[in-house]
Amino acid sequence: MPTITGRTKLVGLFGWPTEHSVSPAMQNAALAAMGLDWCYVPLPVPPSRLADAVAALRALRLVGANVTVPHKQAVMTCMDQLTDEARVVGAVNTIVPSDSGFLGHNTDVAGFRRALSDAGMEASGRVVVLGAGGAARAVVYALCSVASEILILNRTAKRAVALAADMAPYSAGRVLGAALDASTLTQSVSGACSLVNTTSVGMWPEVDSLPWCAGVSYPSSVPLFDLVYNPQETALMRLARRAGARAENGLGMLVHQGAESLRLWSGRDPDVSIMRRACLEALEGEHHASVPHRR
Ligand code: ATR
Repeated sequence: MPTITGRTKLVGLFGWPTEHSVSPAMQNAALAAMGLDWCYVPLPVPPSRLADAVAALRALRLVGANVTVPHKQAVMTCMDQLTDEARVVGAVNTIVPSDSGFLGHNTDVAGFRRALSDAGMEASGRVVVLGAGGAARAVVYALCSVASEILILNRTAKRAVALAADMAPYSAGRVLGAALDASTLTQSVSGACSLVNTTSVGMWPEVDSLPWCAGVSYPSSVPLFDLVYNPQETALMRLARRAGARAENGLGMLVHQGAESLRLWSGRDPDVSIMRRACLEALEGEHHASVPHRR
């Protein structure tokens, strides 16, 4: 527990609810290690009061805030400026207040890039992305600057096609969207350099569910990056590993998006290994056995 003094500054987490978030554990561990007299606090905000909550950041002189479900899109209208990432992804997860107003960032993009690089995963060729929701937008945008081809496969084909059209202008390569069915999946993964699962399938408590098509074998040559981190080994990761492929979970992205936020607020580099350990402890604790969200 951080010691609260008369000089302690606050960083907030806007969500609704916030009680399952591991971010307070992760951020407070990093703040303590940095010797900052700051405290990161969950601030549950009902959707109808979001604008008031953002205005209160200034009144209460908070250092900044994270934003999570369900406010990441709605909060954009409360910002004075958006980074390119936040604008293109269409979501803000980090608010940095300054004299010129609120700057809205999306650190999921940098978080994914760093996690991918930490995992040593190849993403310069064809990358297959499963899912076309909010998490996929950040992942696909991050991949646009590195992958020569991005194939987005989704249960609802039209969302995949729409996401591909939105992201194509940011890529020098091809960005295509299609239905997640057995024949498209088989063709897409053949020759892919990696596969990213951005769907929520396999997340606790539906731990046996797979965002994969029956009858399609997992290719041993395609490393998997699954954004889910609870459970730490998803059914899809098990399938990939049994086939002989490498598989990483989403803990690295969770930690790196948090580290990037802290870098923006403090101007300093936090210790990501401390943040990772705090996340794991929070996830393994009894209270977080039921964490449903990615953040
Ligand atoms: P997030 O912001 O976490 O990405 P989201 O925007 O609700 O959440 O997106 C969830 C993604 O998981 C979507 O791609 C969704 O597919 P649809 O667009 O068809 O809904 C995918 N998803 C969720 N449940 C699924 C399931 N049972 N099978 C396949 N895909 C699923």
